[in-house]
Amino acid sequence: MNFHLSEEHLAVQAAARDFAQKELKPGVIERDSKMEYPYEQVKKMGELGFLGMMVSPEYGGGGMDSLSYVLAMEEISKIDNSCSVIMSVNNSLVCWGIETFGSAEQKAKYLPKLASGEWIGSFCLSEPEAGSDATHQRTTAVDMGDHYLLNGTKNWITNGGTSKLHLVMAQTHPEKGSKGINCLIVETSMPGVAIGAKEDKLGIRSSDTHTIMYTDVKVPKENRIGEDGFGFKFAMKSLAGGRIGIAAQALGIAGGAYELALEYSKQRTAFGKPINQHQAIAFKLADMAMEIEAAKLMVYRAAWLKDQGLDYSAASAMAKLYASEVAMRHSVEAVQVHGGYGFVKEYHVERLMRDAKITQIYEGTSEVQRIVISREVTGGKPYLPV
Ligand code: CAA
Repeated sequence: MNFHLSEEHLAVQAAARDFAQKELKPGVIERDSKMEYPYEQVKKMGELGFLGMMVSPEYGGGGMDSLSYVLAMEEISKIDNSCSVIMSVNNSLVCWGIETFGSAEQKAKYLPKLASGEWIGSFCLSEPEAGSDATHQRTTAVDMGDHYLLNGTKNWITNGGTSKLHLVMAQTHPEKGSKGINCLIVETSMPGVAIGAKEDKLGIRSSDTHTIMYTDVKVPKENRIGEDGFGFKFAMKSLAGGRIGIAAQALGIAGGAYELALEYSKQRTAFGKPINQHQAIAFKLADMAMEIEAAKLMVYRAAWLKDQGLDYSAASAMAKLYASEVAMRHSVEAVQVHGGYGFVKEYHVERLMRDAKITQIYEGTSEVQRIVISREVTGGKPYLPV
């Protein structure tokens, strides 16, 4: 077993780290405070190829593997999780979904725009009354022959105010339950798409999260992804990969908080020595290092399984669940290591603590991950943790 990253992977990691330190760090506190969308930074992410990392070169993407994407997500998430969630949704939910399940026409029409960052995409599954219980979609897509008539409301939509393309899950055949759902590609310029107010959030504050209303939106039939009724499976398969991205985000938050705590603990003295020489702090750092290491192995392995074409849905749920718990636990501890300084914005660590919470909620709460994992563990084909 070789745990070394290849030259290519190290280069991607270094490029993302450099970009995060030079381009994202300088304004991150202000953008977060003012809930300012990072237009300029997202534009640069597009130019550098971070928005379509896994998309094939024939559609203008980087043609990279999932591990490269994870490494870039991790580095960017050490600094700016508003940027990394924008990147994550665009890469692993929107681009991946279209490239894997879309028609040749859909790929040719939309992927070059999405991979370059000219357009940003949104993934519209959650509804006011269908969050974790995603099979019970209230949004309807009525089959009108040559088009669908789309009506309903989606909420918590990442990139909701800025995206030009939505992947919308909607119910076409209510009597068929999850097998009656379709995924439609909706261009936000289509009449009947309305964007609600930007949410004022605890964390990832400069990403734009909105409620979206669809009223009698005529969506051409050719904008449906896959066969009639494939929408729920499409969403689940996309989320299985999306969860690897969020797991990488959580890993980055934990790693970023750890790096800040470690550095601070070397410089800060109390009772006559650097605080990392006190066991109370040294043990905290030891626990952080150990659990981040464990999370890293899980996240990288989930990405590796995906790259090998092997089943990764339990591995991605485990990686997301564990990494998000590590991010939450250790960002709180990193604040504690900083004492009063951890409580103010200037030291960056309180932002990471606020950002950590969402990794336990979006792309499936921790409870949903446990549903996914427990079904695999107790299912017909028992899960073997190898
Ligand atoms: N791949 C393929 N098919 C799958 C699948 C997968 N990973 N998971 C489920 N399915 C299939 C099932 O096999 C089943 O099909 P059959 O009837 O043919 O067997 C069908 O889908 C229905 O599945 P379930 O019976 O398992 O559905 P359920 O109602 O019990 O719920 C759930 C399953 C896991 C709880 C699911 O609803 C879920 O994942 N919910 C959470 C949704 C979520 O993650 N939302 C996040 C929103 S997106 C977001 O946050 C993006 C962002 O902006 C950051």
